[in-house]
Amino acid sequence: MPPTLHLGQTLVFDTSPFAAGPAAARHLSRGAVLVEDGRIAALGTAQDLSAAHPGARVVDHGDGLILPGFVDAHVHYPQTAMIASWGKRLIDWLNTYTFPEEMRFGDPAHATNIAGRYLDLVLAEGTTTVCSYCTIHPGSVDALFEAAEARGMRVLAGKTCMDRNAPEGLRDDARTAYDDSKALLARWHGRGRASYVITPRFSPTSTPEQLDALGALWAEHPDCLMQTHLSEQVDEVAWVRSLFPEARDYLDTYEAFGLLGPNGLYGHAIHLEPRERDRLREVGAAVVHCPTSNSFIGSGLFDMDGLMRDGHRVGLATDTGGGSSFSMLHTMAAAYEVAQLRGRALHPAELIWLATEGAARALRLEDRIGTLAPGSEADLVVLDLASTPAIAQRAARAEDIWEALFPTIMMGDDRAVSAVYVAGRQMVPGSAA
Ligand code: GUN
Ligand code: ZN
Repeated sequence: MPPTLHLGQTLVFDTSPFAAGPAAARHLSRGAVLVEDGRIAALGTAQDLSAAHPGARVVDHGDGLILPGFVDAHVHYPQTAMIASWGKRLIDWLNTYTFPEEMRFGDPAHATNIAGRYLDLVLAEGTTTVCSYCTIHPGSVDALFEAAEARGMRVLAGKTCMDRNAPEGLRDDARTAYDDSKALLARWHGRGRASYVITPRFSPTSTPEQLDALGALWAEHPDCLMQTHLSEQVDEVAWVRSLFPEARDYLDTYEAFGLLGPNGLYGHAIHLEPRERDRLREVGAAVVHCPTSNSFIGSGLFDMDGLMRDGHRVGLATDTGGGSSFSMLHTMAAAYEVAQLRGRALHPAELIWLATEGAARALRLEDRIGTLAPGSEADLVVLDLASTPAIAQRAARAEDIWEALFPTIMMGDDRAVSAVYVAGRQMVPGSAA
């Protein structure tokens, strides 16, 4: 196969815009990305790379903006079919909508159906990597990894472990949580583009024995990520305090059982105590901001500015289906609005970085995805910055790339996603599987 030369606008970050401001990014109005054997082989101007690679197959995206595929650092693929369920806050929402839906994943055919549906939905939104919770059923993990493998996608996922405060049929125990997770890890971790993630749902649904067993598993496989939820809603924090009277705070319910570490991913992290913030930063753990979810379930306003200033690693995510969207564009818009409510206007450079390299850093994958750096895997999204009349008329007035891009961040949807490539292979438009 000859290499492919993608031509269009490009945006490349030299460093984090949270550290260096928008000057962290270099914009080329006529840039080029050379893809060979599923990887990015070179990056430059259209003129230079066209001259250097006359044998390449050329795909000209015109004014389309070529970016790394979006990375969604916290999702629940089993909640696809019950996204946008009305009227509940976290604990009631879990009991009313989420747990009954997750129960259905005891049927492998249902899991396979939803896994494929979910990945096709996110690809259409320009997302090429997700880090997903599954259900307690090992088959739900197999279904997602098989669907990802069929599409060539880099996906991270794990069996969601729960042994209390969940209905009959949706509980394992300390032993089976450990055994199932270990077997799934052995089957999937590092197979192709799959990564296994050790996944205790959150401390209210795990006994101390289960948290301890999963902490032991993580100690055996410290290269794996571990994902869970932390301090999402005030009522939940109070519930954790009553369930773990010995704990210093919510984070301590993980720390005490070996579930705090540099490869830990803590979803939401809104209502943090000073000690929790300090410990998360000291160990180099990542927190994941899920803004549509935080508004939809009524959880609160994440402190992006403060956490970034303090040097935290922060990822961005939809939290489908607590989140109300599959789209990282929509999620960037929600992050902008949440930050505005806290008095900080996130720059479009910061929003795009969070949805690509920032989320990849949270997943410890920035050397493989989330950037256009040569050597990276060629997961790409191409955005049409004039995808609707409303966006086009606003973008027409833009004086620089940021003004041209911001209307698509705020108002764009899957119509703005004109092409998606996974490891160099075109997935959108076109049949995904
Ligand atoms: N906390 C524990 N489980 C969940 C979940 O499925 N979604 C959200 N948003 N929060 C949780
Ligand atoms: Zn979640």
